[in-house]
Amino acid sequence: MFLWGTATAAYQIEGAVKDDGRGASIWDTFTHEPGRTRDGHTGDVACDHYHRWPEDVALMADLGVNAYRFSIAWSRVLPLGTGQVEPRGLDFYDRLVDGLLAAGIAPVPTLFHWDLPQALQDLGGWMNRDISYYFAEYAAVVAERLADRVPMWITLNEPFVHMAFGYGMGVHAPGQALLFDALPVAHHQLLGHGLAVQALRAAGARQVLITNNCTPVWPASGSAEDLAAADAYDTLHNRLFNDPILLGEYPDLKAIGALDDVVRDGDLAVISTPLDGLGINYYNPTRIGAPADDALPFTDLGITGYPTTAFGWPVVPDGLRELLTGLHARYGAALPPVYVTENGCSQEDLPGPDGTIDDQGRIAFLDGHITAVEQAAAGVDVRGYFVWSLLDNFEWAEGYHQRFGLVHVDFDTLRRTPKASYAWLRDRLTAAKPQSP
Ligand code: FCB
Repeated sequence: MFLWGTATAAYQIEGAVKDDGRGASIWDTFTHEPGRTRDGHTGDVACDHYHRWPEDVALMADLGVNAYRFSIAWSRVLPLGTGQVEPRGLDFYDRLVDGLLAAGIAPVPTLFHWDLPQALQDLGGWMNRDISYYFAEYAAVVAERLADRVPMWITLNEPFVHMAFGYGMGVHAPGQALLFDALPVAHHQLLGHGLAVQALRAAGARQVLITNNCTPVWPASGSAEDLAAADAYDTLHNRLFNDPILLGEYPDLKAIGALDDVVRDGDLAVISTPLDGLGINYYNPTRIGAPADDALPFTDLGITGYPTTAFGWPVVPDGLRELLTGLHARYGAALPPVYVTENGCSQEDLPGPDGTIDDQGRIAFLDGHITAVEQAAAGVDVRGYFVWSLLDNFEWAEGYHQRFGLVHVDFDTLRRTPKASYAWLRDRLTAAKPQSP
């Protein structure tokens, strides 16, 4: 059964940050520090999905998707990240799962979409190896409650982006700018992933995946310097996270640093615990040239000659075909079924005079990328495609300025209005006839 879905994340949509015993997460802390997000936006209210989820499930039922990827807020379930469980937090996700199943939609929860409990950040966050074990504890608590009804789990969302933006450059929570000294964050997330896979399975979970952000890397030229720089970037962004999981070993890291001091005997066996699928999030390729100075071993040159989204990201649908076929070429039989767990674009979608939102750019974007998936599927086992996102939402450092939704949200009234792309996708799905889970 091919999964057609939409994707969201807890901090980006839920709001209700103080309801029902929820503990603070690093995103609560970060967004309340001056200058961290555009216009000081926070997720305090977001889309108020915590209270309006029945309306959002109904929107997905009308859309005709058969799967929904959402994330669980660790600090709703374990307000301090470990120890005391908050039953009201679990009750919320229990209601959501039942609501989805009643609507014929498979719930696909992600356990960690960047919102680490602040209490665990106070212990050093993912720089501290202990967090990997706390993550497995949390995975077990959630699975014991939900595994009887959840068909598919995702451990982490984009450990590369969390490491690079959160700990490398400091533009996301927890706001640390450690550059390559942030590499332990990669290993501890991967170890946490492996431990969580084992904990989930022990609690009866059926299918388990991880979601990695992947990008095809385009060298700026065929020169040795550009090729070496592209290789370094590919190692950092893609292979650092895919190789240990799929091959049980790290790639050659010498261009970007070393993990020798943090990797312990047995870790890679845990990290490479077999999975039922690999989730990949694709937004665009990356063009890389030789280093401009000593700070980084590569330069991100940007891509010209393509349309761009409101974020300025290049629109390259064929990059998704290139990515999927490239994964198959690199990993061969070690590549499990692949699910595109995020793909989408931001636009300045404002209602026209008649109140409708005619987002033709998003329709072209989705059409092109779904076609790329269909082309790749001739040689790669692709089993799902999830649009980022169901709703306009809190886009991290950009606040509410980047709108990715199939459904427009008025952030003053919280009113939801399906855009033209929603109607387009509904028609597309009617033709594809998605089966219920
Ligand atoms: C991805 C994130 C997701 C969203 C999109 C636009 O990197 O996983 O939460 O912000 O980008």
